[in-house]
This record gives sequence, C-alpha cells and structure tokens, in this order.
Amino acid sequence: ELLGVVALDGPSGTGKSTVARRLAGSLGAAYLDTGAMYRAATLAVLRAQVDPTDAAAVTEVVQRARIGLSTDPGAQATTVDGADVSAEIRGQEVTTAVSPVSAVPQVRAQLVAEQRRIITEALDTVGGIVVEGRDIGTTVAPDAALKVYLTASAEARAQRRSRQDSTDLSATLASVQRRDAYDSSRATSPLRPAEDAVELDTTELDLAGVQAELLAMVSERD
Ligand code: C5P
Repeated sequence: ELLGVVALDGPSGTGKSTVARRLAGSLGAAYLDTGAMYRAATLAVLRAQVDPTDAAAVTEVVQRARIGLSTDPGAQATTVDGADVSAEIRGQEVTTAVSPVSAVPQVRAQLVAEQRRIITEALDTVGGIVVEGRDIGTTVAPDAALKVYLTASAEARAQRRSRQDSTDLSATLASVQRRDAYDSSRATSPLRPAEDAVELDTTELDLAGVQAELLAMVSERD
C-alpha cells in the first residue's frame, strides 16, 4: 500500500525536522521541509535589503527569487538562485526575520502552490512524502493520510534549540516564544492543529521514542 502524505506540524524545537527526515528515510518516502522554503524566501528579502515587514516589497522579491530544494531525506540542500544557502538559512538573521515574511499572504500563496507541486510529483514517483511545517494539515495537504501535531513544553523546546545552535538558553526561550506567538496569531494559516490531527507531546520523549510513535501511527492508519 502506498504511503501518501504524512503531515507533521507544530512549533519549533519539537524535534520535528530530525524525526520527519528520519521517518521519510525509513519509509522510503520523499521529504519536504517547508520551513526551509520560508527561510530561503527570507534570505532573498534580506539580501535585497528590503524591510521584512513591507508586504508589497517582500512579495516582489519573493516572486523573483528561484527557491530550490531537494526532497531526498538523505541530502538536504536548499538553493536560492542556484546557490546553496543550506547553512545561511539557519542563521540568526534569517530566524529573526522569517515570521513577518511568512505572514505575507502572497508569499504563502506562492510557496503553498510550489509545495503542492512538489507533493504531487513525489506521489507520482515514490508514492509517499513526509511534509513538515506549520500549516500542512490545515492548508497545504488537508487530505493527508496521516496528520501529526508535535508539541513540547516551551522550556523543552528552548533547551533543544539552544543545544542545537549552541546559544544561550534564556535568549533562545524568548526567541522561541516570540516566534510561536507571531506564527500562531497571523491571519493567514496560523499555526494550529488540524481537527483530525493526532497530537504527540514530545516533552518526555527522545528522538527514538518519537520515531517509534510515528511509525506505529503510520502502520495503524486506515
Ligand atoms: O520550521 P522552521 O523553524 O524552519 O520554520 C521557520 C519559520 O517559517 C516558522 O517560524 C514560520 O514563521 C515559517 N513557516 C510557516 N509555515 C510553514 C513552515 C514554516 O509559516 N509551513
């Protein structure tokens, strides 16, 4: 039986990216990191020296940017206008500016259309794709075969992020909470679980534990 779409949503620091990539790898599915697309769009905005809160200017820059990304779970490469930006999109400058850029409705419309194109192609070729983000179950793929909403306490999420990025814990907690508040309160596809999503709290789980829960959900889906 073909896998179809697995939608993984939730705030940052839940271990979403790592588990999504591993899950795709172990299922032989494609992997789509939609956050990387919003980050790449944000990098293009910063490079153009456009104010991330100027919706019209942001829309124009993002329309012109050629954002590319690999859907191979073993080879994560994101490009902007042909150049590899995989490391740069994880930097502090992009992380600070990404929420206002991704709140622009025209940016979301453009990237959601591109995400749907990538999903269709993956379903046609390998039959399955794990898609991770904030609005996959609600907007990008409302018909997904399985929707999981990952949560964890803000403290646990900040701890994981600061370990991952080797940054100060209290600053990371503040940054995680600021981004969550922004992402949850925007008008266009805010961060929230789909009605038919299964919620999984990862506060007390390690990566292997989350992975085991997800694999069980995949095999139990109808
Ligand atoms: O997942 P990641 O932390 O890389 O996402 C970066 C940002 O991109 C999020 O804070 C959010 O503002 C935006 N995003 C979004 N919709 C998605 C994925 C990410 O708005 N589907």
